[in-house]
Amino acid sequence: MKARQIPILLSAAAGLPLVSAGTVLWSGVFNESYTVEDFDKWSWSNQIPPYQWYIHGSGATDTYLGVSADFKNPNSTLADEAQGVRITIDDTSSWNGQTMMRSELIPQITSGTDLGSGVRYYHFSLSASEENFPTSEFEHQVAFFESHFTELKYGGSASDLTWYAGGTAQWSTALEAGVWYNFAYGIDFDSSTVALYASTGGEDLELVVDAVSASTSTNSADWHVGQLRLDQSAPGTGGAEDWFWSGVYVEEGDVTLAV
Ligand SMILES: *[C@@H]1O[C@H](CO)[C@@H](O)[C@H](O)[C@H]1NC(C)=O
Ligand SMILES: *[C@@H]1O[C@H](CO)[C@@H](O)[C@H](O)[C@H]1NC(C)=O
Repeated sequence: MKARQIPILLSAAAGLPLVSAGTVLWSGVFNESYTVEDFDKWSWSNQIPPYQWYIHGSGATDTYLGVSADFKNPNSTLADEAQGVRITIDDTSSWNGQTMMRSELIPQITSGTDLGSGVRYYHFSLSASEENFPTSEFEHQVAFFESHFTELKYGGSASDLTWYAGGTAQWSTALEAGVWYNFAYGIDFDSSTVALYASTGGEDLELVVDAVSASTSTNSADWHVGQLRLDQSAPGTGGAEDWFWSGVYVEEGDVTLAV
């Protein structure tokens, strides 16, 4: 996939500055023709963008993933985004015999794409509904890298949705059904720092935590877009939970603040 420019968005209100935008290096947003069957076209021998799909339980893919216009942030301004994705974990979501419940997509890049040097903005929006609302009984790790240098956690000792960087809680918000939470991790791989941008609904992202030191690194294929639930104390009892994801992409240059 070639890098492309997001069109510059002009603010309708006079006097507001132009919304600047960087260059999208990898996009995981879904156009109107994408279906849940498309995830299964990816395999280790057919590594097609946008996502690797192998971290999941034993059920059919549509148990764990769904693609629909109802699953995106309705306030999304992304021109390419027609649909969002439901990522579900349930009590069958053990992967590789682990006692954690996991359903995770991983960016599939094409050769030459580098998501792990310079400054990169990792964008995503999350929502939960009243039906299959995530249990706060167990800790969840959400939108994490393999080394967990930046991630969200929810449940267990932290009942709020909490941002961790460098292993320390930095910021949190209550997780309420029906609210869209928009994020971007601003990762400086040269300076080894991460900043957090956040907003809700259709609001522009704001810098909520300035650069925090962290052991930033990625091989461009270890960002986990999904949830891992630590069920160890009582494996397979947490039940089904749905998380809705929208606006997942990585850019460089000027951070896009519009959701
Ligand atoms: C929709 O997205 C898929 C996957 O990214 C891509 O292969 C396909 O060409 C796109 N279709 C259209 C009509 O843009
Ligand atoms: C869309 O954005 C507006 C402004 O932030 C907000 O009031 C509204 O609740 C949002 N809609 C949804 C479904 O998040």
